[in-house]
Amino acid sequence: MGEIRLFWLLFVWVLGIERGVSGLACNWGLQSTHPLPPNIVVKLLKDNGFDKVKLFEADPGALKALGKSGIQVMVGIPNDMLASLAGSAGNAEAWVQQNVSNYVSKYGTDIRVVAIGNEPFLHSYKDMFTQTTLPALQNIQAALAKAGLGKKVKTTVPLNADVYQTDSGLPSGGDFRPDVRDLMLKIIKFIQDNGGILTINIYPFLSLQADPNFPKEFAFFDNKANPVVDGPIVYTNVYDANFDTLISALEKNGFGQMPVVIGEVGWPTDCDPNANIDNARRFNQGLLDRIIRGQGTPKRRAPPDVYIFSLIDEDNKSVEPGNFERHWGIFNYDGSIKYPLDLGKGKALAPAKGVKYLARQWCVLSPSAGVSDPNALAQSISQACQYADCTSIGPGSSCSNLDPQRNASYAFNMYYQTMDQRKDACSFNNLSTVTTVDPSQPPCRFEIMIDIGKHELSLSNKVPAAGFGSLLLVSLMLVLGLANGVH
Ligand SMILES: *[C@@H]1O[C@H](CO)[C@@H](O)[C@H](O)[C@H]1NC(C)=O
Ligand SMILES: *[C@@H]1O[C@H](CO)[C@@H](O)[C@H](O)[C@H]1NC(C)=O
Ligand SMILES: *[C@@H]1O[C@H](CO)[C@@H](O)[C@H](O)[C@H]1NC(C)=O
Ligand SMILES: *[C@@H]1O[C@H](CO)[C@@H](O)[C@H](O)[C@H]1NC(C)=O
Repeated sequence: MGEIRLFWLLFVWVLGIERGVSGLACNWGLQSTHPLPPNIVVKLLKDNGFDKVKLFEADPGALKALGKSGIQVMVGIPNDMLASLAGSAGNAEAWVQQNVSNYVSKYGTDIRVVAIGNEPFLHSYKDMFTQTTLPALQNIQAALAKAGLGKKVKTTVPLNADVYQTDSGLPSGGDFRPDVRDLMLKIIKFIQDNGGILTINIYPFLSLQADPNFPKEFAFFDNKANPVVDGPIVYTNVYDANFDTLISALEKNGFGQMPVVIGEVGWPTDCDPNANIDNARRFNQGLLDRIIRGQGTPKRRAPPDVYIFSLIDEDNKSVEPGNFERHWGIFNYDGSIKYPLDLGKGKALAPAKGVKYLARQWCVLSPSAGVSDPNALAQSISQACQYADCTSIGPGSSCSNLDPQRNASYAFNMYYQTMDQRKDACSFNNLSTVTTVDPSQPPCRFEIMIDIGKHELSLSNKVPAAGFGSLLLVSLMLVLGLANGVH
């Protein structure tokens, strides 16, 4: 008996070491023109020790691929669905049935949390979602209970840190923003009564980006300069100070025990003077080190779950907040490594495996194109960038010091790749040509997109044997031609 127990103890202990880090969590965003296949993403998550993932919507591909993966899922409901879910219990029941129960029972997806809305009380949304968020939350909670999932699946509302503030300028002065204070307290009470969690997004990068006077070092965890002294507590970074401002607000209102998770935190790598590989690596490594150590904040010693934002870059994300929005990934869009990170005990990040790419070819400005008409060139560039992600040639970005020729090439190539290397996608008024020589010039990457099964059928593979009938060939070309006409 004793020996068997010892054996199991050792076994469990060895497993613990084998798995290295456990308890990493991240956001998996899907706003890409060329999303990685979900099964590859799930493998990527597992290879890197992520055992929790957050989705912004109930994406069928992602939820199926996560089935029986051992990864726990937080699934989001976009803000634009809140009104309909608030308006009818039946709508909420249908939503839960189709987007939660269905995956739990059919695919074994381990859905643990439903996130109602995304930062619905963001100041800049005015009051667009203040009427609908709580009723939607109540209806979803009731629908989960009705579906027999009330115990297993919790609810939350992911909030921007702008729902709280501090008049004293110190974390201990934290309280909720006056215009949403009553609503916040009702929501927190409801979530607490139902055993749910509070989710807060914290962005040191945005603090720095929005305020030229923000002390840069205070954004990072290894900061030694200018600490903030708050009574007996010394804050050395804005992450702790921000989180504890929330904890003070909760304590002040009688919710000191409310469980809190961090729904988004991270650092982008491009399109802002502070968004680069060095800063992102410094911030995210500091963050990972804390998570691995199990470190909380001065006011809450127990570490919260922390969902890193984000797993991969998304080239079709809205750039309204800034071009950096498309560059939050710790991995590139294709799951390749952007910069090294230590996942604890020397374990390095592992890239995505089994990714299929389009051919190694790029669309560039033709060397023979006499650029006699700069207007025509500018027009072609802007045409290309209307459909493709050209954020990296903007000012302060990784490709901002290309010469005008390469600048044009960058735009042409992004369009060509985004259009899956279709032949007619490299024909900018005869200014462009396809090359097999990689035009990349570090740190500027000339992308090749991944193959999402949309590129042109290769004629050499598909043309029937000679004599089989040219009619078939003609109709095949017609089909291709038609497909090409759709932009
Ligand atoms: C990109 O985003 C726009 C606007 O949200 C959307 O209409 C479009 O379908 C998206 N494109 C791709 C390829 O996902
Ligand atoms: C979820 O379920 C509803 C049915 O209420 C459906 O209309 C919706 O498109 C589903 N998917 C997502 C991603 O919310
Ligand atoms: C490159 O193209 C972009 C997009 O048209 C433009 O804003 C930028 O000024 C160009 N840069 C150079 C060096 O030509
Ligand atoms: C491109 O070149 C071809 C052949 O040289 C010519 O027939 C065609 O008119 C040109 N197209 C444009 C838009 O200049």
